[in-house]
Amino acid sequence: MTGADVLDDFKGRVTKDGIRIHDDAGFAGMHAAGALAARILDDIAPMVEPGVTTEALDQAIENMVNAAGAKSATIGYRGYKHASCISVNHVVCHGIPSPKTLKDGDILNIDVTVIVDGWFGDTSRMYVAGNLNRKAERLIQVTHDALFKGIEIVRPGATFGDIGHAIQTYVEANRMSVVRDFCGHGLGQVFHAPPNVLHYGRAGTGSVLEEGMFFTIEPMVNLGRPETKVLADEWTAVTRDKSLSAQFEHSIGVTADGFEIFTLSPSGKFHPTWR
Ligand code: MF3
Ligand code: CO
Ligand code: CO
Repeated sequence: MTGADVLDDFKGRVTKDGIRIHDDAGFAGMHAAGALAARILDDIAPMVEPGVTTEALDQAIENMVNAAGAKSATIGYRGYKHASCISVNHVVCHGIPSPKTLKDGDILNIDVTVIVDGWFGDTSRMYVAGNLNRKAERLIQVTHDALFKGIEIVRPGATFGDIGHAIQTYVEANRMSVVRDFCGHGLGQVFHAPPNVLHYGRAGTGSVLEEGMFFTIEPMVNLGRPETKVLADEWTAVTRDKSLSAQFEHSIGVTADGFEIFTLSPSGKFHPTWR
């Protein structure tokens, strides 16, 4: 498949870089989709404990999507079969839910994308099974804060390079590394659309942000080197040096004077210290 994930009949303006400009109805659609994705990540949080399997977490997520009358964007996406990606420890992203149980001290990212009335809400955050060790805690904190360093750049007139630069500068100042092999993406009535939202780069480069653009920012940060490899299952991406990796993701819209985060946690559980 090339280009956009689905053919549709978008009626609005598209920039020269292929980025769609959405109107108020788009913001309303994204707000609803983002809220559901965030609520599901809130509601799964109490289940993340040593001894639970990642496939049990995924099944609970699938049930929540169905109970809400929504659709999972990932089931059937390029052959993927699950309602979530669950990436444990040195898994960078796209971890496949499995019968393996979590053990004390495991850190994991859970990534959920739902479709509500045709709009896509995509968000992920970190969880801890049991007790969090110091190094993992620092990785999670830096990754969380790196996402917000990027989000704070978002307003009309800034560039995508400004976002990447803010994230990279912050992560590297903390002696960690930004994954280059995966990026954020435009979304809206499609899952993955232009632009590629890089989590590294140079200030002032890339497309200029305009009101009405919708995209994700989803930095992956490693304690060791940035290189990744994809396992034989063709999904699971891991750090080559087996170092610990973390990720947080929000879906965002550009407003007249800044940004709206569509996937804010309704009960304040975005950061794993909610416990
Ligand atoms: N939700 C992921 C993202 O942030 C994409 C997952 S695709 C899947 O873009 F097929 F692996 F689920
Ligand atoms: Co995404
Ligand atoms: Co995602």
